Amino acid sequence: MLQKPPGIEDIFPDRIERWNSIMDTARAVFSLHNYRELVIPVMEYTEVFSRGIGDQTDIVSKEMFTFEDRGGRSLTLRPEGTASVVRAYVENGEYNRLATAKFFYAGPMFRAERPQKGRLRQFNQFGAELFGSSHPYYDYEVISMMDSITKNAGIKDYSLLINSIGCPQCRGEYIAELRRYYLSRRDELCGDCKNRLEKNTLRLLDCKKEPCIAIKKEAPVITDYLCEACREHHTELKKYLDNNSITYREDPFLVRGLDYYTRTTFEFVTDRLGGQNAFAAGGRYDNLVEHFDGKPTPAVGFAAGIERMYLLIEDIPVSEKGVSVYMVHTGGEALEQAVRLASGLRACGISVDLDPETKGFKSQFKKADREKAQAALVFGGDELAAGTVTVRDMKSGEQDSQDASDLQALARILKEKFSS
Ligand code: HAM
Repeated sequence: MLQKPPGIEDIFPDRIERWNSIMDTARAVFSLHNYRELVIPVMEYTEVFSRGIGDQTDIVSKEMFTFEDRGGRSLTLRPEGTASVVRAYVENGEYNRLATAKFFYAGPMFRAERPQKGRLRQFNQFGAELFGSSHPYYDYEVISMMDSITKNAGIKDYSLLINSIGCPQCRGEYIAELRRYYLSRRDELCGDCKNRLEKNTLRLLDCKKEPCIAIKKEAPVITDYLCEACREHHTELKKYLDNNSITYREDPFLVRGLDYYTRTTFEFVTDRLGGQNAFAAGGRYDNLVEHFDGKPTPAVGFAAGIERMYLLIEDIPVSEKGVSVYMVHTGGEALEQAVRLASGLRACGISVDLDPETKGFKSQFKKADREKAQAALVFGGDELAAGTVTVRDMKSGEQDSQDASDLQALARILKEKFSS
């Protein structure tokens, strides 16, 4: 039997109702804030991610699905959306001439991580990115969009963590201090962190291994090193959150595993996902557009993991909608009539299903039940002779006879009776 690779899922219809409710909620909130959809490619030249996310990050150094095209150029399946959105924004002059541009996107991302609950190799994100303003209002706007989506999707028991990781100027002094601290404890670090100490000091704070978690607790915190402008930005953001009743916790070690961030970083976390506690995250990246050869343009955004959000609402009951009408027939001419009527009812906006194989009524009613049909329309010899159809309410079992020749009238009756 052919199988799918590890960490890759099929999403069957029984999960789609909740899945769509998350996406519908997200789309509605994006639309209320004037964000418009951008469809970005699933693969990019590898440089988009190595330059965008950073060579020394785990994502780029260990987790990308990279391969050569036939011409020998290196392509990568996107591990996230931000770098692609920035590449598209810079490449497309029409949009980057706008004062501010607001985009949202959704789709599969790929990371070669060790699969476990909530951690997949192909997973789906939706996200939003705003270009053209460094005003802290927009940091608040993207955070508040995710907060609304979370609440509207029915997720409870979550926290918002925020931090500021400053700008390249004030961060330099902090990184030097951080490096001094970690050098003094070098012997206690894991192998990866010894390497990070040489190549990308900030990434030491991302380590999930036990000795390094304990060492981090005593490390210097960036908030003590912020310059005046970064401190002011952070204070303003907190004011917006306070004024609009969005509760948060400050986490001075929240540096996020991607190199592009400046100033604000944030995560929506829960302890209901085991090791994978973040279900959405983002921050400001004021230098990335310039880093991609665009004109200097501040930006801020976030992305959420749909599978992780799904796990958080899995236990909320949903009313699974079935088909409205199931045709039950005796084959031959009755099947022909049933198909004709089905086509007419579908044109009137009523969902209809049927089984063309001639089976007994009993097995067809069973199927109608399995498809959660609200009504069964029965065509047998009697109905054919009389030009009628028997309408059975699948819940109550009540039946009545209707004229089969007047499609509009029949459709109206079905809609009135079974419009729930
Ligand atoms: P990220 O934190 O790498 O940020 O991913 C965002 C969300 O994607 C995570 O919070 C999680 O819900 C989901 N996610 C990440 N990896 C996996 C995985 N292996 N399996 C399942 N879900 C996963 C970004 O991607 C940034 N682009 C966010 C951003 C947008 N920052 C600014 N703009």
